[in-house]
Amino acid sequence: MTLDSNRKDQHVDLAEQQYEPSNQSDFGKMRFIHHSLPNLKVADISLQTEMAGMNLAAPFYINGMTGGSERTKQINADLATVAKMTGLAMASGSVSAALKDPSVSDSFSVIRKVNPNGQIFANIGAHHSLENAKRAVDILEADALQIHINAPQEMIMPEGDRDFTMWLRQIEEITAHVGVPVIVKEVGFGMSRETIGQLIAVGVRTIDISGKGGTNFAAIENARRTAIAYDDLENWGQSTLISLLEADVHRGKAEFLASGGIKTPLDIVKALSLGAKAVGLSGQFLHMVLSDGPEQTAETIEAWKQQIKTVMAMLGKTSVADLDRTDLIFQRDILDWCDMRGID
Ligand code: FNR
Repeated sequence: MTLDSNRKDQHVDLAEQQYEPSNQSDFGKMRFIHHSLPNLKVADISLQTEMAGMNLAAPFYINGMTGGSERTKQINADLATVAKMTGLAMASGSVSAALKDPSVSDSFSVIRKVNPNGQIFANIGAHHSLENAKRAVDILEADALQIHINAPQEMIMPEGDRDFTMWLRQIEEITAHVGVPVIVKEVGFGMSRETIGQLIAVGVRTIDISGKGGTNFAAIENARRTAIAYDDLENWGQSTLISLLEADVHRGKAEFLASGGIKTPLDIVKALSLGAKAVGLSGQFLHMVLSDGPEQTAETIEAWKQQIKTVMAMLGKTSVADLDRTDLIFQRDILDWCDMRGID
């Protein structure tokens, strides 16, 4: 087994060990204001949304996770089965491993094989060349490309990258020339409005702020370390809720996706009501597919779609776009962050 494929298996194991059913995210610090007269028919509620030039039948998707080993090939096959059964879009994990070692390409291309007509995103790190980005898209016959930015993970990972000077330039070049829509994403550390501004300035139009509150890659890489532990860094980053508030100033210049600690249909609706066009889930769907298998997971997801409609009905909203204008209440510490950062 190569270092890469071993690491991919460890990420899955550690993410699953770390999984908590109860919500650790900031979404508990935000409430909808209940109004008693929703003026709609449930039959008129649509879950459709658009992102990265695509129409999505539901406003949530299976976010980037894995591939690169025999075991993760099976997980990707199971996740792709779920995507096919439910019509959800799905991202692969970083295709880097297959670019280095083509013998593991099938652990990614299996996603397309299982779901030939699905909406599928490839995924690579920001240090990659345009040529590598094109290869990653080809392997999955992908409809879009996710580029992940994960500096804290690289730094805590003993074998991680130590040179970040090319990231923004590579993102600019790939976004301009890769030939499919690009989604730049964090991996659970969240984004600041400064980061978002830098991405927009180089032409990025779809950004997944992937915030803190769910899978914690500082903790995962810390657990893999045999040298000095970095326990003090495990709380690094901005929550998904804060990151969406940070993104607000850039509305209209880019579209935002939310991920990080999304565990329930109510979390999905909360993220959408903060302006996200769609919501990605990784740790939660990994847990469901590992513990329940693909068929049961697909059934649960169908129930989630109904539950999202239930919340939308209670909010009096018939479309995902309308959720953007919902009355919200935040706890004091969230408002303190907004005050200090000058967010209205
Ligand atoms: C991830 N994530 C991830 N992201 C990415 O862009 N490329 C990758 O290869 C991976 N690998 C990966 C493996 C595993 C096992 C997990 C659980 C996650 C990060 C993921 O897309 C997401 O940004 C974070 O996990 C936060 O979302 P959740 O897990 O809290 O829903």
